[in-house]
Amino acid sequence: MTVLWTNARIASLSGPAPWGWIEQGALISQAERLLWVGPAADLPAELLANVEQRHDLGGAVVTPGLIDCHTHLVYAGQRSAEFEQCLQGVAYEDIARAGGGIRATVAATRAASETELFELAARRLRYLLAEGVTTVEIKSGYGLNLATEAACLRVARRLGVELDVEVRSTFLGAHALPPEFTGRPDDYVSAVCDWMARLHADGLVDAVDAFCEGIGFTPAQTRRVFEAASALGLPVKLHAEQLSDQGATQLACEFKALSCDHLEHLSLAGVQAMVAAGTVAVLLPGAYYFLRETQAPPVDALRAGGVPIAISTDHNPGTSPTLSLLLMLNMACTLFRLTPEEALRGVTVNAAQALGLHDRGQLVAGQRADFCVWDIEHPNELAYFFGRNPLRQVVRAGVIRT
Ligand code: NIG
Ligand code: FE
Repeated sequence: MTVLWTNARIASLSGPAPWGWIEQGALISQAERLLWVGPAADLPAELLANVEQRHDLGGAVVTPGLIDCHTHLVYAGQRSAEFEQCLQGVAYEDIARAGGGIRATVAATRAASETELFELAARRLRYLLAEGVTTVEIKSGYGLNLATEAACLRVARRLGVELDVEVRSTFLGAHALPPEFTGRPDDYVSAVCDWMARLHADGLVDAVDAFCEGIGFTPAQTRRVFEAASALGLPVKLHAEQLSDQGATQLACEFKALSCDHLEHLSLAGVQAMVAAGTVAVLLPGAYYFLRETQAPPVDALRAGGVPIAISTDHNPGTSPTLSLLLMLNMACTLFRLTPEEALRGVTVNAAQALGLHDRGQLVAGQRADFCVWDIEHPNELAYFFGRNPLRQVVRAGVIRT
């Protein structure tokens, strides 16, 4: 099916114009791809001759479909009691050391059935879709044994089949030390490397992540996880420099990581490593806000080095229980001083790069026909409003979804 979409004001995020702006724009999609994007006045007659269906978008603003490139959507339970403790002054690290934190969610997740995990995650994911998300990354990391990690990754795959979204799944076995490995972190890392190969053989893994931190895994342990991933040909990502500077980013960049995520405590040496490796910086303002952090990531240095910056919800029950990617656009601007255009690039083209995807994130010929139609006058409104959802319509793979 060849479809013509007219009367669009397009933020293509491609080309030299701010926002890749096309004032009186049109798009032609053919099956799941864009065949042509540009000013309506330039529509080529030979393409118009083959159009089978036409849609008038009524002068609405059109952007690429949104991409949430860092989520922990699959888990059971929630941790609002820990939120109350945090508000009373108990540190996130201390809750974790006392057996709460990630380990509390692991216990709840292990106790849930795969069907329950699917239904809980589907309910969460629908909120993201309602704001125009067309691609989402989902990490495991709340199972921490082979059976439950596998169940969580199967749930992620099934979400992509049953809900209207493309899912990329990331194995985060090295998220925390499960209780049965207390005092034996190196043995646990060996187990993670072994499970990784099995889960990959079952087609459940698109990338591998780890939590390199004082309360997570050491750089040496993280290196072993990355060596195992590289041996399997899997790309890596890293929760890096969230609570302290571990030099974890430099390590990840040795393995040409797709992205390093959080980065509040990133050093200049870390920035330089990212520049050299072409690694994306994924900033997570929800976690920064929720933990009431005060040291923001070094945005000026990232910008000066030309490091692509992505933005994500980091949805998880412990540090970022948000289900609004649009809210993260606003927070990326208010808390991290990104421009609204940088924020939109952060949930489209740069988020795609953080997932190793090069077929989406901009509206140009050859890319996927994934786009959002918004009830706004200017794309900067996506970062301006908070707690308001101006989404009118989503087109995914060339088909109207909502
Ligand atoms: O991305 N930093 C590690 N992982 C999550 C938090 C997980 C949790 O507290 O449950 C994050 O912030
Ligand atoms: Fe995370």
